[in-house]
Amino acid sequence: MNTIWSKHVQGIHTLYSSRTLRFNDFFAPQYLPLFALDGDKPLKILEIGCGPGALAAALHRWYPQAEITALDRDSEFIRFARKNVPGVTFLEGDATALPFPDGTFDVTISNTVAEHIEPSAFYGEQRRVLRDGGVCLVLSGRRGLHAYPEVKQSDFEQAFWNKVAQHDDSLERYAVCKYPMSEMEMPHAMTQHGFSAVRTGYAIIDLTPDDPKYPAAMAHAMIDARRHNDLDAIASARRSFPDHVSEEEAAEMSRIVNERYDARIAQYHRGEKVWDTGVSITMIVRGVKGGNGGKSSC
Ligand SMILES: C[S@@+](CC[C@H](N)C(=O)[O-])C[C@H]1O[C@@H](n2cnc3c(N)ncnc32)[C@H](O)[C@@H]1O
Repeated sequence: MNTIWSKHVQGIHTLYSSRTLRFNDFFAPQYLPLFALDGDKPLKILEIGCGPGALAAALHRWYPQAEITALDRDSEFIRFARKNVPGVTFLEGDATALPFPDGTFDVTISNTVAEHIEPSAFYGEQRRVLRDGGVCLVLSGRRGLHAYPEVKQSDFEQAFWNKVAQHDDSLERYAVCKYPMSEMEMPHAMTQHGFSAVRTGYAIIDLTPDDPKYPAAMAHAMIDARRHNDLDAIASARRSFPDHVSEEEAAEMSRIVNERYDARIAQYHRGEKVWDTGVSITMIVRGVKGGNGGKSSC
């Protein structure tokens, strides 16, 4: 049982809430032309490193004819996804040794996973399980724009986060982002690993709660995604450094965070505009496995 990512790197609610927003139907018109898949076909789609399942859920909505399998090596993510995301088969497994015969899938897809896995294993395994003419889609988070009001942290909060920063070695320890690639390197990597007709595109996900184009439920979800991120970071600090972060400190930090985001939601309801925003950019690289002059048949 592997629970490293969910316990020490990114919590279930951080990933599920941020990705549920990122793959909200509101943004589907940006993704679908870049995916360029034939939704009328009963495609067999494999998602690699699916985390708690938000992208798999969106794929199920966007391609109702497809048979979707999603895999991650973190058992907590898989347990959560099985419970919360209907219509998808979730499996615990390793992206570097996919438990499927050659040529099983029409499409492989992943979001913010490529940078964590050695490229020849990452692309090689997808190439192996794709049939000829199958499509590999790699989604990768790029730099965005994040503007939030400056928060005056109390001495207590500052001391807490300083302590966490002092002890936190999770990025090196768990090889997080060990294989980063630039926007130029990403399509090259796909070509080098045997894919053709490689193309790139970008989805710009604007999460600005005060923008009236977003319904209230979505604005709430935007504010709550930030809340989940902070609460998960506090819980992870308590789990990772129990000798340095006490139960009481973690509980007090969670109370402060909840109070802060409750106040932000109240502000939203009073119509008091803050115009805080988090704009993320997702790069989408698409390649086709061999055959037919690189023409996809998906
Ligand atoms: C940044 S998270 C992204 C999760 C999900 N794609 C999302 O966007 O919410 C990276 C994910 O890759 C998974 N992962 C990393 N290495 C893996 C491997 N070798 N096999 C399977 N999953 C892996 C982690 O468990 C984690 O869920």
